[in-house]
Amino acid sequence: MRILVVGSGAREHAMVWCLAQNPSVDRLFAAPGNAGIASEATCLPVDADDIAAVIELVEREGIDLTVVGPEAPLVGGLVDSLESRGYKVFGPSKTAARIEGSKAWAKDLMQRHGIPCAASRAFERFEDALEYLDALGGAPVVIKADGLAAGKGVTVAQDRAEAIGALQACLVDRAFGEAGATVLIEERLSGPEVSAFALTDGREVLPLVLAQDFKRIGDGDEGPNTGGMGAYSPVPLVDAATEGRIWDEIARATVRAMDAEGVRFKGLLYAGLMLTEDGPKVLEFNCRFGDPETEAVLPRLRSDFGELVLATVEGTLSSYKAHWTDEVSVTVVLASGGYPGEYRTGMPIAGLEAAGEVDGVVVFHAGTKERQGRVVTAGGRVLAVSALGATLAEARARAYEAVERISFEGMQYRTDIAARAAEEERS
Ligand code: AMP
Ligand code: GLY
Repeated sequence: MRILVVGSGAREHAMVWCLAQNPSVDRLFAAPGNAGIASEATCLPVDADDIAAVIELVEREGIDLTVVGPEAPLVGGLVDSLESRGYKVFGPSKTAARIEGSKAWAKDLMQRHGIPCAASRAFERFEDALEYLDALGGAPVVIKADGLAAGKGVTVAQDRAEAIGALQACLVDRAFGEAGATVLIEERLSGPEVSAFALTDGREVLPLVLAQDFKRIGDGDEGPNTGGMGAYSPVPLVDAATEGRIWDEIARATVRAMDAEGVRFKGLLYAGLMLTEDGPKVLEFNCRFGDPETEAVLPRLRSDFGELVLATVEGTLSSYKAHWTDEVSVTVVLASGGYPGEYRTGMPIAGLEAAGEVDGVVVFHAGTKERQGRVVTAGGRVLAVSALGATLAEARARAYEAVERISFEGMQYRTDIAARAAEEERS
């Protein structure tokens, strides 16, 4: 089998690394990939968002299966274009990807089908949104741009002024273009967050695992939001009964709801959840694997990832189960200085080999490239260092030992990934 992975992050590196272990994989390609992916796959300089160029690549290289990592090409219709030409592809159609591509659409679906989520309403006119805000009488709210805004479209408003500022940015100033032409004003929930991943062929749902990610740049969840600064899996604070509810009342219920409305979701359904006092509630859905959660999740998988992906595509998931190691995992992201704001690239990275020699550690590349035989930084998030261990404390210690062996100018990372969970595990 010749497999193409579309994307260039540490998530795609983890997928390629996992697929490379499948005996039926003859050749792996990535579009465009990065310096780490290049050690397992042939990287071709094709932009993940350039749907026409990806199709051309699939035709030219005789790709048997395409696995799409990021959301933009999914929301843009890459899967539909490949399927209509008879190619096998892992990921949802453009219509099904609306579960991530339009928060208003996802919310309507959940409300129609009684799937637990925060109360919310959608607005297109600033005046109407203000009126609703006033009617809520100062209740804490979250303002969300409807469409894809590269993780920047959500404001957890601290007060009325901040809520109005966010509404103004979307609806009046069009800071997110069309993606912010509709906004949601949502009830603010509280509680710990978890990410739930399930594979589905649109009928059968195969729960994978839960993970937690760390969105803020700084220790103690301080500072601005990022693409994700670390993760761990599984999540000990979620008991078996709650996990069962997540799979039944949220993952299965959502896939069933979509199917009932004639939208078959095929691929990886990612539910971003908050564990509230009234049970788990959906904050958002994503239509693809999470990053950096995937870098924590896939090293624990003992089933053949390639087989699971193919079963998802072919609609035969009911005959599969996912098997996991008993070990747990922790992933620490290393980012460029200045990220998530402005940062410089082209910094040589030292210590990659030594880091990979720590027991249980795999170093996944995100924004890296090769320049004159050296690996240099090429993005905001640069590396994701993942470690397995018998306990979260052990996995943490291994991950950070590896992190300390790596250096590049301006390197920054959080020192508290999975720290609290490791404390709780001890007590
Ligand atoms: P989202 O992109 O919808 O996951 O939102 C990004 C982040 O905003 C989430 O990870 C939460 O930390 C926060 N958030 C989103 N919706 C809510 C909500 N209804 N209540 C509280 N926090 C929220
Ligand atoms: N880890 C958050 C995301 O992948 O959207």
